[in-house]
Amino acid sequence: MKVAGKDYRTVWMENSSVFFIEQNLLPFEFRIGCATTYADCCVAIKTMNIRGAGALGAMAGFGMALAFLEASDDHFMEFVKKAKGEIESTRPTARNLFYATEKVFRSGIKSRDNAMEEAQKLADDDARDSKAIGELGNQLIKTGNGILTHCNAGWLAFVDYGTALSPIYLAHKSGKNIFVYVDETRPRNQGARLTAWELFNAGVPHTIIPDNAAAYLMSKGVIHMVITGADRIAANGDVANKIGTLEKAIAAKEFNIPFYVAAPSSTFDLECQSGAEIIIEERTEDEVLYQEGPDSSGNIHKILVCSPGSPALNPGFDITPAKYIAGIITEKTIIEPTAINIAKYIKT
Ligand code: MRU
Repeated sequence: MKVAGKDYRTVWMENSSVFFIEQNLLPFEFRIGCATTYADCCVAIKTMNIRGAGALGAMAGFGMALAFLEASDDHFMEFVKKAKGEIESTRPTARNLFYATEKVFRSGIKSRDNAMEEAQKLADDDARDSKAIGELGNQLIKTGNGILTHCNAGWLAFVDYGTALSPIYLAHKSGKNIFVYVDETRPRNQGARLTAWELFNAGVPHTIIPDNAAAYLMSKGVIHMVITGADRIAANGDVANKIGTLEKAIAAKEFNIPFYVAAPSSTFDLECQSGAEIIIEERTEDEVLYQEGPDSSGNIHKILVCSPGSPALNPGFDITPAKYIAGIITEKTIIEPTAINIAKYIKT
């Protein structure tokens, strides 16, 4: 995607360095970070400087490849196994992260070059699949549609294009008159900070809404469809996505509004029979208690916005049961989420 007229991917590798857009600084500053060791990649993931299912997968794959480059011939297996474990312990919910470490690990055992090639292929596949999701998802969008999205499943959350936003970009580009309602997505505000920044840059008409405004707007008839991303999809079609997704899906059902999930095949986890088996990340209470932003001189400050002394609970994701989902837009087809359909899809 273009930023100030220049094409960027969210994360990319050059020689033995991994470059990435520092998402914690957006939308206030656009800066490129650099990781030269697998441990640097772990820090970028843990601090959420790189985030979003596909981007996490790409970064984890590149991190695994760096570990193979870093490993000396003596203690080789010990080193790369430890690195794999550390990368996988950075964040638990997004399936793409584990998919990537596994693939690059298997290739890297054959040779270091294979590890590098596999990591690059995973990133390229992610971008290709996101583009294809856009083409399929665009078929569902009609001119005049109001579309609700939650969190950031745009190009920043993947290597390029995004998933939930990919059809929206294409619909806008093909001249459809659409309007996007962007859930702010407390506590980290990925909607208000990242999705809004992406849509603004691309000239897509949109507005940020408070997280608790969606049902009201649905009742008013201005939202015609919902598209979100996914962090992990179980064998029965239950979907783990950013906290707050479930309540949007329930509200959409009430108002007869189709609720779509957009995700590549790498997000499916057939080892999880249902959403109940998906591990939900618990994040620090500070994300709820504090907010941050720039003062008039552009210096970023963190301020307490809750009652001092009160604790906060901060589950990062929730599970939307398959029954609320009209379809999962993948890179190959749109699936009605049942266990049979998903098993058939993964086999093809
Ligand atoms: O905690 P994050 O920001 O990494 O959350 C993941 C997400 O970006 C969302 O849940 C998204 O909708 C899934 S697809 C990237």
